[in-house]
Amino acid sequence: MKVLFISLFLALSYYDDIHVTALFNPSDIRNHLSSRTPYRFRSNKNDTRIRYPDCKDSKIWMIIRHGTRLPNSKDITAAQSLIDLRDEILLQHTSGKGQLTKEQLKRLEDWTSDIDVDHGKYLTTEGQFEMIDLADRMQNRFPHAIKQKYSNKTFLFRYTGTQRAQQSARYFTTGLFEKKVAQEIIFPPVKEVDLVLRFYKHCDRWQKQVKKNPETYKESQLYIKSQEMNETLESLSERLGLTRVISFETANTLYKFCGYETSWDAQHKTSAWCAAFDEETILPFEYYHDLKKYWKDGYGYELSYQQACISIKHMFDSFRNDAGPRATFLFTHSGTILKILTYLGLYKPEFPLNSTYRDEDRKWRISDIDTFAANLAIVLYNAIC
Ligand SMILES: *[C@@H]1O[C@H](CO)[C@@H](O)[C@H](O)[C@H]1NC(C)=O
Ligand SMILES: *[C@@H]1O[C@H](CO)[C@@H](O)[C@H](O)[C@H]1NC(C)=O
Ligand SMILES: *[C@@H]1O[C@H](CO)[C@@H](O)[C@H](O)[C@H]1NC(C)=O
Ligand SMILES: *[C@@H]1O[C@H](CO)[C@@H](O)[C@H](O)[C@H]1NC(C)=O
Repeated sequence: MKVLFISLFLALSYYDDIHVTALFNPSDIRNHLSSRTPYRFRSNKNDTRIRYPDCKDSKIWMIIRHGTRLPNSKDITAAQSLIDLRDEILLQHTSGKGQLTKEQLKRLEDWTSDIDVDHGKYLTTEGQFEMIDLADRMQNRFPHAIKQKYSNKTFLFRYTGTQRAQQSARYFTTGLFEKKVAQEIIFPPVKEVDLVLRFYKHCDRWQKQVKKNPETYKESQLYIKSQEMNETLESLSERLGLTRVISFETANTLYKFCGYETSWDAQHKTSAWCAAFDEETILPFEYYHDLKKYWKDGYGYELSYQQACISIKHMFDSFRNDAGPRATFLFTHSGTILKILTYLGLYKPEFPLNSTYRDEDRKWRISDIDTFAANLAIVLYNAIC
């Protein structure tokens, strides 16, 4: 009797934490903080093993945006100017203007910004935990592809030459292995030109035709000047008790800090600056960033996302190579995640996003798909025979 060995390969895409598991009321402003939306509001907490009949998880390829980070140096500097604004808000409220509650004012009064500019973009403590917990859940779900025991033959970790991506990889391994093992892992050296992790950085044509092309920012710039944004800025100013209309740039800094501080401070859960927004006024800011990224990193230009084939090829190559690592974990940035999602045809809005119509049912929503620690895992299931 002959035994027929059938090797059936099923490539199953599995969009783990990209899925939305809103823990809060969907209109809660903390669900609308764009790329600074806290991962703890979005992560898929289900860590039950995923099984398919007569198959086992044999390989995994995963690409991960670094965890919650500090603001960049430009935003850190911008925060310093918020001290004057804070004092103005407090003063106006003493003369009966403004709509903030006593508690909101107290929190603003206590607010300070003491981030060291030299630590711009560093991974935060919350970001470390995001990675540890994510690694832990993934190992529970795919125990065959992600073994408990470390070997440099079965695991590949790769990151961009940035503190936040490197530290994300380090903490991810802490979630997978015993602390001592994790600490001793030697990561492959960072490649100066890493086309798998950040293809667009090295594509001159994209830099010129998309990133540095004013046309790319046309719709988002028009939106800043729209009536909708004007009314939003007026409403925001009134809420804060200001006697003038706040500029878009300042309001956007408030929006960003509401996001940063809410993300990294798991204890308080909300930044004092979030008090500037309500369920209505937060939405135009969310849309502005969706619009900008749609044109820069998403469906706006084919050139942006076609490049992502380099990363996807890396996935197929690693699945085809029986001798190569079983588990590949790549630590990278928002720009890579968005272009890969777009390349795969995911979260495509029905119509191109523009400055005149904000569709609240749009699928392209950075707050859902590109939070801190956003990730995409593709898992290969192999027939057991
Ligand atoms: C958790 O994941 C498992 C495996 O995919 C699934 O069967 C189960 O329904 C999920 N549970 C919840 C609460 O979504
Ligand atoms: C794995 O580690 C061994 C011993 O440190 C080393 O000789 C080998 O080159 C490493 N292999 C890979 C694929 O990094
Ligand atoms: C918005 O306000 C600015 C100045 O505050 C003004 O120049 C612009 O025309 C306004 N736009 C609309 C659409 O109302
Ligand atoms: C903006 O998009 C909406 C929805 O697709 C469309 O109806 C509208 O015509 C667009 N506006 C402009 C100025 O193109």
